[in-house]
Parts: sequence; structure tokens; C-alpha cells
Amino acid sequence: MSTPAHILAIETSCDETAAAVVAGSEDILSSVVASQVKDHAVFGGVVPEIASRRHIELIEPVVSAALRQADLSLGDLGGIAVTQGPGLIGALLVGISYAKALAYGLDIPICGINHLEGHLCAARIGAELAYPHMGMVVSGGHTSLYVVRSETDITQIGQTIDDAAGEAFDKVAKLLNLGYPGGVIIEQVSRGVDHLALDLPRPMMNDDTFDFSFSGLKTAVLTLVQKSGIFEEPDLRFSGLPEAKKPRPGKEHLIPVIAAAFQAAVVDVLVTKALRAVREYGMGMLVVSGGVASNTALREALKGKTSEEGIRLVIPDRKYCTDNAAMIGIASIRHFMDGRHADLDMNAVSRWSSITGKH
Ligand code: KG4
Ligand code: ZN
Repeated sequence: MSTPAHILAIETSCDETAAAVVAGSEDILSSVVASQVKDHAVFGGVVPEIASRRHIELIEPVVSAALRQADLSLGDLGGIAVTQGPGLIGALLVGISYAKALAYGLDIPICGINHLEGHLCAARIGAELAYPHMGMVVSGGHTSLYVVRSETDITQIGQTIDDAAGEAFDKVAKLLNLGYPGGVIIEQVSRGVDHLALDLPRPMMNDDTFDFSFSGLKTAVLTLVQKSGIFEEPDLRFSGLPEAKKPRPGKEHLIPVIAAAFQAAVVDVLVTKALRAVREYGMGMLVVSGGVASNTALREALKGKTSEEGIRLVIPDRKYCTDNAAMIGIASIRHFMDGRHADLDMNAVSRWSSITGKH
């Protein structure tokens, strides 16, 4: 089977409405991401119903912008790639329905792509990958390690048993009253702060599995916030709603100290486990992707450790670490080449047990 010259890729699994045009040669002709962060920030996290509604409003303008930036029109497309799962069902369905309608109307093939395969394939943008390699996805929904033997043979060897790393960043930012989304803000407030001033637990870091756990770390932060009385108790007498938390005078300085110690603990766990997996499986290359992989402290720590051990490290450009459609387009190329097209009865998948297996 041949790969279409131009593929339109669509990603709507969570709170970014994204479209990209990717050439069969793997060049990214355009990548447009409309973030819904502002719509969800007041709620301190993604509200699925709001995400679906915003995708409906944004999908058409985002796809049009992607085509315009690639200087192409619908008639130039030879295939459509769309995220099929895992993700929020209502959100996924917006992208899938739009993609199916386009594929039907244009009479071109469509491929349903696993979002995590997309994250792993983002590393192919601007880098040549060697196989086999160790892959790690660290995002708001996942923290997993994969043995990537080939583009079509990906086996998960570990995952989080509770919160994902990005979810922990978001929850801790909320505990520290830093706002949403937490990852970027924690990175900002931690900059230049001595992370050794406080020692936080590193759950499961040295056990003999490749699984992760971050909820204990989040609880440790909660306990610390409560014990040190950083915030004034909200006054519930009048509105019945919690007022914005105010730090007690003289306690504000603890917020960046806790943020930096938390970030250091997450980075330590991720780097330790990833490197141990690389060693145990005798890999020469580590690929790290997903929203948390845009974190500078993590990128620097991974760079340092892998270069010490002579391991090749590939981390995508920051804009391809967080959710985007270019990664879905890149992942789809292999599907088109192998003729792994979806039927028009393709449905959204909220959980997907094996990336290269049947969901
Ligand atoms: O991959 P992604 O965009 O969406 C999912 O598939 O989940 O990842 C989003 C997650 C959020 O939890 C966000 O807080 C985290 O990635 N994140 C970061 C940074 N940028 C985004 N975490 C730490 N440091 C960052 N700079
Ligand atoms: Zn993602």
C-alpha cells in the first residue's frame, strides 16, 4: 500500500483541539493547536462536557487553519488520521465524527490512531529513531514505559498505579493555590529555588517493578501544607463557597520551596525508573514524550544521566510533547502504508489496553 501524499490529522482526546497536515514523507506542513486552558482553569481541571462543547466550536476553524497554513485545500488530501482513544469519550467523538464525515465526503481512507502511539511517534519529528528502544510517555493521563521493538510492536512494561505525573503536577499546583494547568506554573515558580531545602518521598522509585505511584507524594504535599499552616482557613460563613485561599503573612516563601521539592521528587522517580528500564532491557536509546516531557528540569536531568551512561536520548520539541495533531499524522503513516484503514463504523475508545494490539 502507498502512503497518501498529504494526510490531515485530527486530535481531540482531551482539552486541545488540534489539526495538522503531514506529508507522506513525514514532513509537518502545518500544526494548529487551540488550547481550551482558559475554559477549564476556573474549575481547576478539565471538565469533559465543556471540552466536548469547545471541540465542536473549534474543530472547523482549526482544520481550516491547518489546511490554510499548509497551503492546501480539501481536494489535495489523500487520507485522514484521527485519535480514536484513549481519552474523554465525548471529546474523542467530536474529532472522530468530523474525520469520518470528511473521509466519506472526500472518498479517502481514514485511520484511527492510539493517542499514546502518537506521543511516542512525536519523537520522529526531527529525529531518526533506532529500534528497539525504550519509550516513556509522561502526560496528564499516563505515565508508562514501553519496549518499542518496531513501529508495529510496542509492549507496555510499566504504568502508574494511581495518578499520572502530569495529574500530580496539576493537583499539587491546586494545593499550593498556583492555578491551572499546574505543570508549567510549578516549573516557573521552582526556577532558581533550592529543591534540596525540603525532602519529599519518592514512591516506588527503588522497587523492582517499572510501575509508578504519585498519589503518596501528593498526600505528602497536602500534609505539609496543612501542618505548616501556609494558607488561612477559608471563611465559609457568607457565601458557603470556599474563598480564594490566601497565604498567611510570613508563610508565602514556603510555596516555591514545596513546588521545587515536589518537581525534584517527580523528576528523580521518572529518571531513575526510565534509566533502569533502559539498562535492564539493554537498550541504546530512550524516547520520552508527553506533556510533562516539556518540563525543563526533567529534560536536563534526562540529558545528564543518559549522556553519563552513553544512552541516546530523544525528546521531541516542546510543542510536540504536549497534545498536538502532528504526532497523530506521523503515527498514521505506518497505518496507511500497511493498509490498516478504519471502517466508517469506527468508534471512540476510552481505554485501550495495548497500543499495537486491538483495543
Ligand atoms: O500530553 P498532554 O498535553 O495531555 C495528555 O495527554 O494528558 O499533557 C498534559 C499534562 C498536564 O498535566 C500538564 O500539567 C503537564 O502535562 N505539563 C507539564 C508541563 N507542561 C505540561 N508538567 C510539568 N512541566 C511542564 N512544563
Ligand atoms: Zn497526550
